[in-house]
Amino acid sequence: MSNRIDYRVAPGGLLKGRLRVPGDKSISHRSVMLGALASGVTHVTGLLEGEDVLSTLAAFRAMGVQAKGPDQGKLAIQGVGLHGLRPPAQPLDMGNSGTAMRLMAGILAGQDFDSVLIGDESLSKRPMKRVSDPLAEMGAHIETNEGGRPPLRIHGKQKLHGITYHMPMASAQVKSCLLLAGLYADGETAVTEPAPTRDHTERMLRGFGYEVQVDGPTIRVRGGGRLKACDIDVPADISSAAFFLVGAAIASGSELVLEHVGVNPTRIGVINILKLMGADLVLENSRTVGGEPVADLRIRSRRLKGIRIPEDQVPLAIDEFPALFVAAACADGETALTGAHELRVKESDRIAVMAEGLKRLGIAARETPDGIVIQGGQLTGGEVDSHGDHRIAMSFAMAALAASGPIAIRDCKNVATSFPDFVELAQRAGLGIEVLNK
Ligand code: S3P
Repeated sequence: MSNRIDYRVAPGGLLKGRLRVPGDKSISHRSVMLGALASGVTHVTGLLEGEDVLSTLAAFRAMGVQAKGPDQGKLAIQGVGLHGLRPPAQPLDMGNSGTAMRLMAGILAGQDFDSVLIGDESLSKRPMKRVSDPLAEMGAHIETNEGGRPPLRIHGKQKLHGITYHMPMASAQVKSCLLLAGLYADGETAVTEPAPTRDHTERMLRGFGYEVQVDGPTIRVRGGGRLKACDIDVPADISSAAFFLVGAAIASGSELVLEHVGVNPTRIGVINILKLMGADLVLENSRTVGGEPVADLRIRSRRLKGIRIPEDQVPLAIDEFPALFVAAACADGETALTGAHELRVKESDRIAVMAEGLKRLGIAARETPDGIVIQGGQLTGGEVDSHGDHRIAMSFAMAALAASGPIAIRDCKNVATSFPDFVELAQRAGLGIEVLNK
């Protein structure tokens, strides 16, 4: 098997049918983490069996946690309690996953053993001071590489104490890291966010019987409690659904229903933005599953229009911008994004990499320090490089639906981090995608 995977996607076609994309990545990570730290057995269904979540699971197994599965989204975790983890024999490899590394840092800072967190080439370049600095304020002892990059060398046996922290950026990973460290801290840990970010940690802590106070933008936990095992049904990931939403919106004649998608209000920026662009998108069968809102999303193709993306939607759509940029490339007129500097420190610099790819496909795209301006037009065929970024690979795959020639996409292996069966599902829906260099 070759190390590189490329896609070749035929131009045109449309998307039809009903499909269920895999489980939510954020909720899957958290279900493994809280399940491992709870007392009793946590049964998870709908777990995302992507590489990122498997990295988190492997880390807990390396610290003595027993789990059965995952098998077809089912995982049973035998929790060891908040103080039952054992020292890992080796560095814990978080692969491509920023979420795994940042949330695990919070948990590991509170242990009475040392640990080291490492990652792949992309993760090794990502900023970790955003968690190591506030954790140090709580009394943690963490060493990073130069510039606050991984690996993280976490020294155990430190006495943590609660802090009041105002996050400088809207980051659910930083918030969650500090709340998880707060479970091990004396007193209260209070985190204030500058704008709402995904609240899965808060919801799930409550699901595990842990008290969390939410007071406007401030979230508080007190150390010293315990987590009680529970059952978790993970909804389909709106971030994975986003590729199909955009594909169906831009491919004339399409109609898709995406089933059982998580529509937590802190995640629905992609729905709000597509609707502002004029998309024909409706939520059906809205319900609540295990504390998380879920719905079926019906989308039909419709001509989109360019917009100025409201800045308050940015944290709510933070992972969906590569797909939304493809929608913008197909819209009438100009789409402008501002206030999105965080996109530059994701799995790749998503502003630079998307601008480069769109330009290769004949679209006028201009980078700004914290956003992009895209002039809608006719996508041509061509070759683009995902720079190892899963969401960029899948976004350009969908772009082919509206392109005048085939699109070749380089370096798509990391699609397996979040959406292992993307190619099969996309083919079933009607995308002319094939995998090269397997
Ligand atoms: C995530 C939070 C987001 C998101 C990431 C998953 C999480 O990052 O980009 O893919 O599960 O907490 P930030 O909110 O930290 O920017």
